[in-house]
Amino acid sequence: MTSDSYFAGGGEVELFERAFQQHLPVMLTGPTGCGKTRFVEHMGSLLGRPVVTVSCHDDITSSDLVGRLLVTGGDVVWNDGPLTRAVKGGAICYLDEVIEARHDSLAVLHSLADHRRALYLDRADEVVQAPESFMLVCSYNPAYRSSLKVLKPSFRQRFVTIAMDYLAPEREADVVVTESGVDRAVATRLVHCANTIRGADEIFHFEPPSTRVLVAAARLIAAGAREIDAVQACVLAPLSTDTAIGDGLRQIATAGLLAGEEPV
Ligand SMILES: Nc1ncnc2c1ncn2[C@@H]1O[C@H](COP(=O)(O)OP(=O)(O)OP(=O)(O)O)[C@@H](O)[C@H]1O
Ligand SMILES: [Mg+2]
Repeated sequence: MTSDSYFAGGGEVELFERAFQQHLPVMLTGPTGCGKTRFVEHMGSLLGRPVVTVSCHDDITSSDLVGRLLVTGGDVVWNDGPLTRAVKGGAICYLDEVIEARHDSLAVLHSLADHRRALYLDRADEVVQAPESFMLVCSYNPAYRSSLKVLKPSFRQRFVTIAMDYLAPEREADVVVTESGVDRAVATRLVHCANTIRGADEIFHFEPPSTRVLVAAARLIAAGAREIDAVQACVLAPLSTDTAIGDGLRQIATAGLLAGEEPV
């Protein structure tokens, strides 16, 4: 197992490679824990490019991205931010949860994300032209129901969008086995259990359990935990704090685990 092992769900690896060759930025969408970050790490090593990750939030400013003038020992010196360093170094710049950033902070990306491929550093009075190997990648989860945030069309339409989702059951079980070391039967039961809950998601209105929580449960099982305890702690408990919903989920999960039993 390497930290970079990535199981593709479709043609996303080839699409990403083509976008890289064509110097087009990529936008990844998909639910939490479906493999977006893992995919970017994997593509970085496949393309031989370092990945510079920036986690976006409400308060992030364009200066946090591009850099700022700092006073050091009486001199005013320009300091590159992570985006500028990534552009200059020809890296993959990965802006995670980009939807959390304010529109004015993202405006600096527009010239970088279109045919100009340039970063305008007004305060440093400098224009940085992106080298061929630079790539901009953003991601966000469109399904967060609490989020009223939207990306502007002028931003979204600059990107090649790759919509990701949880893998098909067989493939997701491959991930669980590889990441945790549990045997295939356990992985199959966990994936079946998750899919049973995902099916009930419409009723409960929460983010469905992700591949991430299945891997965590599988790791506890590999370390000796009982399946139902690991599922309770990693899969069910993070979904809801409501006791009645918790009881309902436990029943669904137990039924899912039993139904996922492989015939002997
Ligand atoms: N396709 C995949 N191949 C390999 N591992 C995967 C895959 N999808 C999910 N995983 C496992 O799930 C974990 C979570 O994946 P990852 O961190 O990439 O999710 P994410 O989509 O970035 O989630 P978030 O939106 O919460 O940041 C990984 O650490 C890995 O163990
Ligand atoms: Mg991520």
